[in-house]
Amino acid sequence: MDLYEYQAKELFAKHGVNTQAGIVVTDSAAAGKAAAELNATVVVKAQVKTGGRGKAGGVKLATSAAEAQEKAEAILGLDIKGHIVHKVLVTPAADIESEYYVSFLLDRSNRTFLAMASVEGGMEIEEVAVTKPEALAKVHIDPLIGVTAEVAATIVDAAKFPADVRDGIIEMLQKLWDVFVKEDATLVEVNPLVKTPAGDVMALDGKVTLDDNADFRHPDHAALVDLAAENGLELRAKEKGLNYVKLDGSVGIIGNGAGLVMSTLDVVAYAGENFGGVRPANFLDIGGGASAQVMADGLEIVLGDPDVKSVFVNVFGGITACDAVANGIVQAIAMLTQRGEQVSKPIVCRLDGNNAAAGRAILAEANLAVIRVAETMDDAAAAVAELASK
Ligand SMILES: Nc1ncnc2c1ncn2[C@@H]1O[C@H](COP(=O)(O)OP(=O)(O)O)[C@@H](O)[C@H]1O
Ligand SMILES: [Mg+2]
Repeated sequence: MDLYEYQAKELFAKHGVNTQAGIVVTDSAAAGKAAAELNATVVVKAQVKTGGRGKAGGVKLATSAAEAQEKAEAILGLDIKGHIVHKVLVTPAADIESEYYVSFLLDRSNRTFLAMASVEGGMEIEEVAVTKPEALAKVHIDPLIGVTAEVAATIVDAAKFPADVRDGIIEMLQKLWDVFVKEDATLVEVNPLVKTPAGDVMALDGKVTLDDNADFRHPDHAALVDLAAENGLELRAKEKGLNYVKLDGSVGIIGNGAGLVMSTLDVVAYAGENFGGVRPANFLDIGGGASAQVMADGLEIVLGDPDVKSVFVNVFGGITACDAVANGIVQAIAMLTQRGEQVSKPIVCRLDGNNAAAGRAILAEANLAVIRVAETMDDAAAAVAELASK
């Protein structure tokens, strides 16, 4: 889960990272009030889960309450890279002498953690990373050692931070590492980390991604979920314990096993090229023991997606044999119909593996108008893509 800037800063404050609090509001009048309350020159900042807000006009200075209201008016409703602004953070304007960059992240390709740091922080960091890679220091972090004062000093020296901020940044890096480890994050990024004229260092922006797999260790993280901003289908799937990811095509996909579902996405996208670029509408892995209930839950989610025109159920029978899965599909459709859900979108089933013939016979016998049985994965992909294109 990605956090909003204001949520990231709350976690920073919890772990002692020097940052600025602010007031989050959803309308411009409240932004004016917040500025009056802070009684200072403020910055009004769009709260959306994407970077580049400054460049998109989503970060603006205001010297009075009236101006803060005006700036909030302009920012609320902005579309920043497909994210509509519903909330703004009103926060004191900081005096900035220099803008730096620091981050900790999970480096999957090297199977370790990585620290990155640069004295050229601010809104051009992506540009710096491409055109001046030597200005972005990268230091691998040994997970067994973590970021001790010594390790932090290595990062600071690799990035060539000036001497007057050396101690401050060494301290901040250790606290940011605390955020990374204790909150189970996969990304903690501060850009800009600023030096003020008084020589203090402070996190002016924050980007944190939490590892959802560790949610069970952090009951308090549930409060960070923005229900209004989440995809409704993904939320419902999560409640039912399904591995579901919404995509932007029109073919619903259900399979057993993550690898099989991934390759199903590929074959459908490939077959879809012959039908004007039909693509998968979702990823849904119902796992090995695909019971009727799980199949019903999966079908309910996929059929409930208004973008879905046809569905591909791709099952390879293993320990759970194809006849059991076929019974599951038939029962699932009966369950949905009984609940008053209209099952009218065509469902193409491909059953292979253990007891495949018995499974296909069960589907044929059930004689359901919405079900079509395909022999191979490629046949099924072509059929389901064609159905979606109609
Ligand atoms: N509280 C603040 N006081 C002064 N300037 C700020 C403040 N917050 C952000 N800025 C300025 O706005 C720029 C962009 O803001 P930032 O929070 O980094 O958003 P983004 O990274 O999405 O563009 C910063 O690089 C900084 O120069
Ligand atoms: Mg930033």
